[in-house]
Formats: sequence, structure tokens, C-alpha cells
Amino acid sequence: MLVSVIVGARPNFMKVAPLIPALRERGITPRLVHTGQHYDRSMSGAFFEELAIPEPEVNLGIGSGSHVFQIAEVMRRLEDELSRHRPAYVIVVGDVNSTVAAAIAANRLGIRVAHVEAGLRSGDRGMPEEMNRIITDAISDLLLTSEPVAEHNLRREGIPAERIHFVGNTMIDTLRRHIGRAIELRAFEPLGLRQGEYAVLTLHRPSNVDFADRLESILRAVAHVGRSTPVVFPLHPRTESRLRQFGLDGRSDLAGYVAIRPQSYLPMLSLMNSARVVLTDSGGIQEETTALGVPCLTLRESTERPITTTQGTNQLVGWHTDSIVAAFEAVRSGQSPHHRTPDLWDGRSAERIAAVLENATANQRRVR
Ligand code: UD1
Repeated sequence: MLVSVIVGARPNFMKVAPLIPALRERGITPRLVHTGQHYDRSMSGAFFEELAIPEPEVNLGIGSGSHVFQIAEVMRRLEDELSRHRPAYVIVVGDVNSTVAAAIAANRLGIRVAHVEAGLRSGDRGMPEEMNRIITDAISDLLLTSEPVAEHNLRREGIPAERIHFVGNTMIDTLRRHIGRAIELRAFEPLGLRQGEYAVLTLHRPSNVDFADRLESILRAVAHVGRSTPVVFPLHPRTESRLRQFGLDGRSDLAGYVAIRPQSYLPMLSLMNSARVVLTDSGGIQEETTALGVPCLTLRESTERPITTTQGTNQLVGWHTDSIVAAFEAVRSGQSPHHRTPDLWDGRSAERIAAVLENATANQRRVR
């Protein structure tokens, strides 16, 4: 049985890495298709090498562009690929533009869709990823969820229970597999940082970095953090260009961080694992810090991953300087939230997904 596995952007890669061998173990042949949404070595190729993801069978090479362009191009270029190979399922992961585009293309071609990380909702429909999640889930045949609230969200949207499977978090499979190597790496040392005595900052959400006032408000808080705790800031290409565009990169009053290139998987995991605190607007990092037990201040008003705040180390602090500073000072004074590892974040989620797919296809054959 052939299934097509679609990846496009950085957060997809760690989610599919454990799926490829797990599918093979069940006798399912994965055909890996890269849409090319992310293309720089630091945003794509390096992850394939470090996570031993096989070279994609094909790269659609869509590249950068507006959201409409990206979604349309993935659909257009996938039609031929999917028509030629007619996989039993198309597996899509997460919530990026490539995810929703591949789900729609498969659905229109009458190919079943399995969505890994289904059912997450931030409640903020202004966020492109929220619409990507809602649309993808509405047309998926198998909804594979990473935390219990996802099933509740999907049921509320009318998805029948038998399509929903709680399998856990494949990104945490990858984290568990690689944490030993990441710890040995000590990526903080060449940066002149000491274990547990620095902060990591990541920012790339359009809602934060596309507005000069919000970006400045966050950087003011970062300047405060930097007075007591060195801040290392791997710069996403979008953020780098906005800092330049808004004239915020050369301002001495906002120079509270050390900017570095976007990090590949192992150095980033190493940096996060040894940090005192992580400040981020990423979705995945909220989950990774929960699995690592490192305090996380999320620079957003909402999260689609609420288990990281109820059971994990995550707090929503928004983008206002004062609330970020107050939360940071609380962490610095030792007020870290109690946390536990969420259910089924146990390193075996990819195995569960492969089992669900095997059963689903066996049932289909019986029905025919
Ligand atoms: C995308 C995802 C977001 C995810 C993020 C991780 C959507 C809607 N957004 O956002 O959910 O959290 O990836 O990074 O799919 N660029 C490069 N090199 C690259 C890739 C991008 O320079 O390899 C630059 C380009 O200028 C591009 C910009 O970054 O226009 C943004 O890339 P894009 O794929 O449009 O979205 P992200 O902001 O990365």
C-alpha cells in the first residue's frame, strides 16, 4: 500500500520524521513529497540530515509568495503527482499552507486524507494557521489528535467520533529520540552562554512581526530580560527583514539580544533544553518546552495547544512589554509552574498512527 506524505515548511519535518520508519514497519510504503514552501538549507535541508529523513521523492519547488499563491501552486503542482501515483492516503501534518493545499487537492481527486495534529483550535480566525486547521480537518477522513481537547473541538464541528483517533504527539517522538544527542552538543557554549543562565527568543508570527508597534513592544521587554539574562535570538528570515524595514535592528535601546542564524533541529533543541526560560510565538516550541520541563512565555494572546498551559510549563503573556516583563521576573524568582508530561507524549505516536492507517485500509478493503 502506498501513502503520500506531504511536507512543506520547517515545523512539518520533525512531525513526519518518525512516521516514515513506522509506516514501513507496517508494510506501508511512504512516498515523501516536499512542496518547497521552505527551501533554505537552514529552514529545510538541515532538518532532513539531522533527523535522517529520506530525500523526498519529489520537490514541487513552490517557494515563497503570498498565501494565495502558495496554496494555489501546491494544489496545481500536486494534481499531477497524486493522479500519477494514486496513493491510498495522503498524510498531511500541522497547519501550514502546504498542509491545507495538499488536503484540498487530495480531496478533489477522491483520495483519502489523514491529518496528523488534527483538532487544535486557537479560536483566533485571524491567524492563517487557524483557517488552515479548520479547512484541513473539515475534509480529512482520519483525524489524528495530539491532546484530548482536539477531539472535543472536532466533535463540536460535526466530525463523527469514529474518524478521530487520539495518538499523541509525533513531534515529541522526535524530541525523545534526539534529546541525548542534543544534550551532548552543548550548543550554548560556543555562544559564550552558561547552562541554565540564558533565555532563548523566537519570533515569526505575522501578528507580532508585521506590526512595528508590537515588535517594538516585545523588543522592549527583551531589552529588560537582557539586563539580567543573556538572550539568544535565532532570526527567522521574515523577522530579520521586518526588523530592518522598521528600523528596529540598529536601535541601542532595543539591543537586548544576540541574533543568530535560524538553528537546525539539534542545536535548537540543545539551546532550549539548557535555557532558563524560552520566549516564543511558535506553536511547536510551546510543546517542546513542556516536554523538556523548561518555562515558556508565549508571546501570543491565545494558544491552540492548551494542554501546554494546563499541564505544561507554558504561560500566555501576549505582546505588551509590561506583561512579558512581569512573567519573566516571576520565572526568574523561581516561580515555575508545576508540570507533567501530557498523556501519550511517550515517543510512540508514529507507531499508533501507522496502526490506525493499517486498520483503516484493511476496513476499506472489506467494505469494497
Ligand atoms: C510558515 C507557516 C507557519 C510556521 C512557519 C515556520 C504558513 C501559513 N505559515 O510561516 O505556520 O510556523 O512557517 O517557519 O504556512 N523564507 C526564506 N527562506 C525559506 C523560507 C522562507 O527566506 O526557506 C522567507 C521568505 O521571505 C518568505 C518568508 O520567509 O516569504 C515567510 O515564509 P512562509 O513560508 O511564507 O511563511 P513563514 O512565516 O515561514
